[in-house]
Amino acid sequence: MILYYICTYMSLVASVLFILALRGLSSAKTSVNGNRFGMAGMALALLGTQIPIYFAQLEVSLTLTLVKVIIVAILGGIIGYIIAKKVSMTALPQLLAGFHSLVGLAAVFISLASFFCIYGIPSVNHDNMRALEMVLGTTIGAITFTGSVVAFGKLQGIISGKPWRFKGQRQINNALGVCLAALIVAFTVRQTPELLIQTMMLSLVIGYFLIMPIGGADMPVVISMLNSYSGWATVGIGFSASNGLLVIVGALVGTSGAILSHIMCKGMNRSLVKVIFGSFSSHNKITNKPDEQAHGNVKLCSPEDAGFILQNANSVIIVPGYGMAVAQAQHVIKELADELKSKDISVKYAIHPVAGRMPGHMNVLLAEANIPYEDVFELENINHEFGQTDVAIVIGANDITNPAAKDDPTSPIYGMPVLDVEKAKTILFIKRSLGSGYAGIENQLFYRDNTMMILGDAKKVCDNLIKALKER
Ligand code: TAP
Repeated sequence: MILYYICTYMSLVASVLFILALRGLSSAKTSVNGNRFGMAGMALALLGTQIPIYFAQLEVSLTLTLVKVIIVAILGGIIGYIIAKKVSMTALPQLLAGFHSLVGLAAVFISLASFFCIYGIPSVNHDNMRALEMVLGTTIGAITFTGSVVAFGKLQGIISGKPWRFKGQRQINNALGVCLAALIVAFTVRQTPELLIQTMMLSLVIGYFLIMPIGGADMPVVISMLNSYSGWATVGIGFSASNGLLVIVGALVGTSGAILSHIMCKGMNRSLVKVIFGSFSSHNKITNKPDEQAHGNVKLCSPEDAGFILQNANSVIIVPGYGMAVAQAQHVIKELADELKSKDISVKYAIHPVAGRMPGHMNVLLAEANIPYEDVFELENINHEFGQTDVAIVIGANDITNPAAKDDPTSPIYGMPVLDVEKAKTILFIKRSLGSGYAGIENQLFYRDNTMMILGDAKKVCDNLIKALKER
């Protein structure tokens, strides 16, 4: 009996540990402890949910229950360890999307299972409130599942990052929304298996229609939004399975995901409602086809010529982007900055809030290369300095510098704040080609008079720049 009460309180302690984990993960310094709290919370959560099943006389022996918990924990731990070891930092967003899809799927399965049976016993006579909980769990879970699978495909490059638009899209989406609302109400009242399955199928389709039209540049918000959805799906699982711990944890994830989405939307000058429902209400045409007429000549530049330009500069701002992460060029960039500083040239770094593929991506890489924290500036603190800067070196970045965000109302990135690199006297663009970035749109900066393109891998080009500077 004492053990039973201990288990009940375990769930409460686990919830507190999860709150401490979230708090710890909010800063790099405390993140290791945050992870430890999370692991301890998960261990307690497993015990706290499984042991009461034994006491409810649904399991034959306590030892068997504990053995099951241990096996599940070890198996999950091994899979998590392998994934953590294998995944590269640039692939973290798609990993998150993959995990979110599993949470969505779990919510669907648990809602369906609790409708049809509980612990093998067919369940009958749900009241309306319980039916509403189940159908909402199924709906949110199914939308999260297909939405996350599409987000995974877009982030992995399997599906094009370009917004998906077609004629009559708005009307179709509105009709789908109305049908879903009608099915939810019908199931809550009549509670037939057919209605629940139809709601699930429609929600799966809506998840696809919701995320497919979202353009590459808005994917960071989508990821945190799906994170929030997966939290609310977990709340649904908690209600269906009568598990208070899942309700608490789901609400924590749902709320923190919603807050992060709000912060990211603010940083990107987007409205959260427009990102979520933009495709459901917008009928703007995407007209981001290359404008051949507008192209000037591209000025290609060798590392030696760039070395000459840098040698004569007083101030340099380095703008790192996703390509720096791909090339793992952060260490060589530090060497380049040290070389410039040794020639009394001021060097600063400008960080865009969505540079790279995850929040804080560039900050983590620059910190890894021991780049002094005081040299690194966020967009709002450095944008005004480009006008007085001799050279902006853009290393593996693209969308975050694209002036279409300011000048072209038809562009998918219109309204997103970008780094004003074009205001520097000279822009040195280091990338491998004239290809587009994640949003899949042209960058007119490549053709500007004050732009010089140094084509090649970021790491190799920076190495050559250092050599060229040393030879002078
Ligand atoms: P992007 O716009 O994606 O541009 C990166 C550029 O790096 C590409 O144009 C590519 O051009 C170049 N590149 C790739 N590998 C390279 C290498 N080895 N050496 C040199 N250059 C290389 O990146 P960004 O400017 O950092 O902007 C981030 C984009 O990702 C935004 O659209 C953002 O919305 C989106 N996004 C961000 C996040 C978060 S939370 N940060 C999450 C998902 C999506 P080449 O192929 O010509 O070399």
